Amino acid sequence: MQESVAFPRGIWTLLACVPVACTAPFVHASPWLTARLFESFARSEWESMLDLREAAARTPSAERAARYLAHAADEVRHTRMFAKRAEELGHIAQDLGGRIPYGDPSRVEARVAPTGLGQREEVDFLAFVHHGEARALAQLETRIAILDAAGDPRSAALCRRVAEDERNHATYTWELLVDLAGGPSAARRALLRAQAGEVVPLWRAAGGTLTAPLFSLLAIALYFVAGPFAALSLAGRREPEALPPQ
Ligand SMILES: [Fe+2]
Ligand SMILES: [Fe+2]
Repeated sequence: MQESVAFPRGIWTLLACVPVACTAPFVHASPWLTARLFESFARSEWESMLDLREAAARTPSAERAARYLAHAADEVRHTRMFAKRAEELGHIAQDLGGRIPYGDPSRVEARVAPTGLGQREEVDFLAFVHHGEARALAQLETRIAILDAAGDPRSAALCRRVAEDERNHATYTWELLVDLAGGPSAARRALLRAQAGEVVPLWRAAGGTLTAPLFSLLAIALYFVAGPFAALSLAGRREPEALPPQ
């Protein structure tokens, strides 16, 4: 039975499942596409690990630093799991192969900002991470059912194991967020800021993607609308009468 979660599941998180529900049946019908997707997941897990190690190096709290480092270790494990499954499914990427694929994590500490995390900055960081974890959990739960239906139990089992960790990550980041922000209301406000911060880049990305096709559609529509008017105009135009001889 699904265990109850100790953090709010907002509409924005649930909406993020819609594209997964629409695309995953097609993606998981193909091992090659599944492998490509898992390889991109491996990279995302790696990026999360880098952010967490940076936060661990900057937070003034030794206790929170320990939580961030434990979380970062989970994300490294997820990187390996997704990369390994991608390889099993036949996606041969240059830097996969059972080893840590994307570089040396110790370089994170070398590029850490010299200033520590301020309270507001760490609240925003926790809200950002919590939102990402809650969304990843909801999307994985959607994907697991589709992988089961697609007859890929190994990938479904992998997603189940990762989802269990993401549930723990979403839970502890919510607890830290409530604590550091000063209560559930302040935590929700920080979460809304994190979600709003996601809308603008999404809007820009959608605009960048849709502008060219929309312009083409408008041009085609204009061609069909203007065509009959041009024909009518040509039909109604009379040749100028010849001037009488002088
Ligand atoms: Fe993860
Ligand atoms: Fe996570």
